[in-house]
Amino acid sequence: MSEDSDTLTSKVSLEDPSDSPISTYSGLVSAASPKVSMSPMSRMALRSDSLTETVMDYPFQYGRRYHKYHEGAYVFPNDEKESVRLNMQHHMFKLVNNGRLYFAPLQDPRKMLDIGTGTGIWPIEMAALFPNAEITGTDLSPIQPTVVPENVHFLVDDAAEEEWLWHHDYFDYIRLAHLTGGIPSSEELLRKSLQHLKPGGWLECHEMDPKPMCDDGTMPPEAEEGGLSAFALHDWWRAQHQSGQFTNPPRQFRIAPRIERSMIESGFVDIQQRIKKVPTNPWPSDPEMKEIGFHSERNWLEALSGWSYKPLTSLGWTRPEIEVFLVNVRKAIRNRDVHCYTNYHVVIGRKPFPDEKEAL
Ligand SMILES: C[S@@+](CC[C@H](N)C(=O)[O-])C[C@H]1O[C@@H](n2cnc3c(N)ncnc32)[C@H](O)[C@@H]1O
Repeated sequence: MSEDSDTLTSKVSLEDPSDSPISTYSGLVSAASPKVSMSPMSRMALRSDSLTETVMDYPFQYGRRYHKYHEGAYVFPNDEKESVRLNMQHHMFKLVNNGRLYFAPLQDPRKMLDIGTGTGIWPIEMAALFPNAEITGTDLSPIQPTVVPENVHFLVDDAAEEEWLWHHDYFDYIRLAHLTGGIPSSEELLRKSLQHLKPGGWLECHEMDPKPMCDDGTMPPEAEEGGLSAFALHDWWRAQHQSGQFTNPPRQFRIAPRIERSMIESGFVDIQQRIKKVPTNPWPSDPEMKEIGFHSERNWLEALSGWSYKPLTSLGWTRPEIEVFLVNVRKAIRNRDVHCYTNYHVVIGRKPFPDEKEAL
């Protein structure tokens, strides 16, 4: 696999602008960061009565902790184990993105929004690059650190709410990242993002397409409907995909390949897509891809049970059935003889100015 796997599909270049943001991973950024002055995190559960009772009285299931605010809306865990994994995943995707935290051609943005911010590591790292910007991260779970750069704010909020907290034409930049499997409608998120961006503002989406892919014939085929494949990751992916119809609310498990088209249909312009292959384990011989594969394998193995419990029980599977199945899925993930990868999509698009809209 090589850089040839980049797919560029429109006019705007995703190649490095001169201010290309390269930053190194330092785990969770803490109050010890030398570049920024710190203040206590500002966090409000704007749509709940009491932060403590309504938002932090977390339910536990399958040995994992889940979010409380709008309980059940998100099917993956929010515990410490998941936070550690999310930060590791952030590091892996920075490797995939050649160290970059964003690709949109940003020029002195003042208001930035990160929907579904998770541990908040992205806003915290961006804060040092854009000290003049106010960067807001929202999430169903208040799992972000409590001491952060003073230009970073976290809010507990549900992006699926009909009304967002800000007025239209407010943000210079909105980021939607790694929401696959977690949200009922990416199209709806794109529509609301367009409303809340200023004309000329940029939306940036980062999503992995979890469908297993292979270019050299080393991956056994998918099984017929109802059967099992010799490569159990196929069966896992199919079960996840099906479960999206059964959870309440239904969730989309294959967002990535549709983002570009959905952004065009929503009314964004200057859309550009970058697709990178992410090996499932360190099977590639290329050293950089091998390193990404090393992190990818760890990420899969750390995430797998948390990604599986709620979706697969919604299909009627029991916990013991899930555990037995995951043994084979783990074997598939670790199999270096199968040159499996998944596609990572980055798509950027700009909100047109009113006169541009008329010309379209
Ligand atoms: C896989 S994590 C990704 C976190 C972060 N964007 C990143 O790239 O590391 C998905 C996050 O989206 C949040 N989320 C899911 N549905 C949401 C919603 N409707 N509103 C706000 N946040 C949501 C989850 O709580 C979770 O923290």
